[in-house]
Amino acid sequence: MKVLGIETSCDDTSVALFDSNSGVAENLVSSQIQLHNHFGGVVPELASRAHLVNLLPLVDHLLENHKMKLKDLDGIAVTAGPGLVGALLVGLSTGKALAMAADLPLVGIHHIEGHILANALTQDMTFPACVLVVSGGHSEVIYMPEVGVYEKMGGTLDDAAGEAFDKTAKLLGLPYPGGPPIDRLAKEGTAGRFKFPRPLQKDPRIVFSFSGLKTAVRLEVEKLPQPLTEQDVADVCYEVQNAIVDSLTQRLFKAAGMKNVKAVYLAGGVAANSGLRERTAMEAQKRGLHFLPPERVYCTDNAAMIAYAGYCHFSAGRADGLDLDSFPRGVLKTWK
Ligand code: KG4
Ligand code: ZN
Repeated sequence: MKVLGIETSCDDTSVALFDSNSGVAENLVSSQIQLHNHFGGVVPELASRAHLVNLLPLVDHLLENHKMKLKDLDGIAVTAGPGLVGALLVGLSTGKALAMAADLPLVGIHHIEGHILANALTQDMTFPACVLVVSGGHSEVIYMPEVGVYEKMGGTLDDAAGEAFDKTAKLLGLPYPGGPPIDRLAKEGTAGRFKFPRPLQKDPRIVFSFSGLKTAVRLEVEKLPQPLTEQDVADVCYEVQNAIVDSLTQRLFKAAGMKNVKAVYLAGGVAANSGLRERTAMEAQKRGLHFLPPERVYCTDNAAMIAYAGYCHFSAGRADGLDLDSFPRGVLKTWK
């Protein structure tokens, strides 16, 4: 089965081809980072307009690369939500138009399910599992007995983990998105110069809170002689990353213990973080749990994960009609 995936929920325009015989045949991503960097965050209207300009040429390019026509596909999977509504609508309208033109089945995918199933692009996933979903808009732990069954165990009370990286990076004068530069600079940092909060550790619930982190970082940064030295920035990055990784892994493994799972997984843009990947691997090994991180290209937004999720839905006999709507917010529901 050959599925075309379309992802336009935020600031990456992406199209991909998943072939059930050979895996991901192509994953094209057109990043809008340069466009939004100047504003220190994503400007929704600019994102929609850029998707509109980039999406169809990317689809053409992908089909040409594989000497395929639309009718050679078996289905189209498109991110229906959550995300920026204007950005989602560009992907959704395009997916519908292509499906109608070539008389192909269409399925709308929840963006978070895409992130979770990105793990299956490089390994056979083991179940039952607990998945830590950490992106620009989400921080949650999901219990997953099998593909298509999702039970949210808890999540953030305020900022998402990616937001915590992005906001603290901004305070340090680092570019947007802030996760990658913090990850890189943390490797040059020395431990112990700063102490940042790890709230709610004794809370019996699976909850995160990151809003206090940016205030704590701002207060520490203001105490230092200005401008900050490269070492100052690296040391702050080290401790910011450490505080976020501590909070995330403590809750993930608490949830894993509660559900007695066989595996843990990471999903979403923050899953690309070196510190989080290393710590999760270490803690999983201590407990005899299976863990292999998703490939970095499949952590941040991409259409390969959407195409693969589409393949799972089509294989289970699921598809949507042309009345499929986008949803800016909405929890990931069990569909099996
Ligand atoms: O999943 P994603 O690409 O988009 C959303 O669905 O939100 O996640 C984007 C987030 C951003 O906040 C970015 O700073 C973060 O993922 N991120 C990272 C790393 N790479 C991306 N955070 C920490 N370390 C990284 N290496
Ligand atoms: Zn995402």
